[in-house]
Amino acid sequence: MSPKKNKNQTSSQSNEATENKAVAETEKQEVEQVTNSDLDTKKGGGAEQDSQKEQDSKVEKDSAKSEESSKSPKEALAKSKEDKDSPVVADAEDTPINDDFSARIIVVTSGKGGVGKTTTAASISTGLASKGHKTVVVDFDVGLRNLDLIMGCERRVVYDFINVLNGEARLNQALIKDKHVDNLYILAASQTKDKDSLSYAGVGKVLKELSDMGFEYIICDSPAGIEAGALIALYYADAAIVTTNPEISSLRDSDRILGILYAKSRRAVNNKESVDCKLLLTRYDVDRVTKKDMISLEDINSLLRIPVLGVIPESKEVLKCSNDGIPVILNQKCDAGKAYQDAVERLLGKEMPLRFTTEKTFFQKIFG
Ligand SMILES: Nc1ncnc2c1ncn2[C@@H]1O[C@H](COP(=O)(O)OP(=O)(O)OP(=O)(O)O)[C@@H](O)[C@H]1O
Ligand SMILES: [Mg+2]
Repeated sequence: MSPKKNKNQTSSQSNEATENKAVAETEKQEVEQVTNSDLDTKKGGGAEQDSQKEQDSKVEKDSAKSEESSKSPKEALAKSKEDKDSPVVADAEDTPINDDFSARIIVVTSGKGGVGKTTTAASISTGLASKGHKTVVVDFDVGLRNLDLIMGCERRVVYDFINVLNGEARLNQALIKDKHVDNLYILAASQTKDKDSLSYAGVGKVLKELSDMGFEYIICDSPAGIEAGALIALYYADAAIVTTNPEISSLRDSDRILGILYAKSRRAVNNKESVDCKLLLTRYDVDRVTKKDMISLEDINSLLRIPVLGVIPESKEVLKCSNDGIPVILNQKCDAGKAYQDAVERLLGKEMPLRFTTEKTFFQKIFG
C-alpha cells in the first residue's frame, strides 16, 4: 500500500514528491509536497471547521455517554461503536499495550475545542527540546492536522501517523526534524479522515517504538472531546496538561476529561499511580477578569483542584506566530511566549511564580 497522495497535486509535483520520498528516507530533507491551495484549505478550513464545530457541540453529549460507560477502554470503545453518533470505531480485539514506557507521555487535552491545545503542544515540546530533552510531538487530531502548520513544517510532511499505523511507512520515515530547535521531532496527523486506523494496539506500538528510540518526552496533541484519537491519547498518558479557557463551558468539559483520566487511563486501569494532571489556563485576560467577564484563576483553582502549570495571557502574538509557523514560546518578547517558558520550567520541576495574572502597573504598561 502506498501513502495517499494529495488530490491537488499536479503530475510534475507528484514526480517531485516521489523523488523526494527517497530523499526523505535517507536525509529527511525538506520537500514541497503540500501545495499552497492545500494550506489555504487547512487554514480556511470551511467544511472541516464546520465539522469541528459540530464535534465541539457534541462534547457534552459524548462526555455524558462516556461517564455512563464501563471503566475498561475496550468496553468504552465497543460501547461507542454501537452509538451511531460516535466517530469512534474500534475492533473488539483491540488490546492496549500496558508495558511501562521509558519515555514520559504527556497529553495536551481539553474537553472543549479551540482552547489552545495545539498552540500549547507546539510550545511545550519546543520548550522541552530547547532545554536539551529529546522530544517528539505527535498530532492525534486526525483529519484536521494543525500541528505541522503551527510548527512550520507542513511542506515537509511526506508520511504521517496514519501511514505508520497502516504499515505504509516506517516511523523514522514519518518523523520530521524540527527546524527551530535541536532534539525535537514531529509526527504529523493525516489530513484525511481515516480515523478508523487509530487503535489502542496500533498507537501503543508506535508510542513504545518512540520510547525505545530514546525519546524522553512524547507530547500528544489531542483532539477535543472524546473521539477515538482523544480517548487513545488519554489512555496512554503519564501526565496531562488540561488546557482550559476561563469560561464555564471550558471548565465543565475539562472536569469531565479529568474524570476520564482518573478512571480510564492505562494508569487507572492497571492500578498504578494516577495520571499527573496539571491545569494550563490559556487566553487569560486580566481586564475581563477584573470586569467579572471571565472566571478568575482562584475560582478555577477551587473548582478543578489540580496544580496549575501556567497561565497564558490572551495575546495577538499567538495567532501571528501560528501564521508564521513559529511556536509562540520562541517569541520571548511577548507575554504569552514568556508564560509558556515558565510553564516548561514548572513542568521540569522548577518553582516559578505566576506572571500575567494581575493588572499591569503603570510602569509595566510603559516599559513592558
Ligand atoms: N493565548 C492565546 N491568545 C490568543 N489567542 C490564542 C491563545 N492561545 C490560542 N489562541 C488561538 O486560539 C485558536 C485555537 O487555538 P488552538 O488551535 O491551539 O486550539 P485547539 O484547542 O488545539 O483547537 P482544536 O480543539 O480545534 O484542536 C487559534 O486561533 C489560536 O491562535
Ligand atoms: Mg488542536
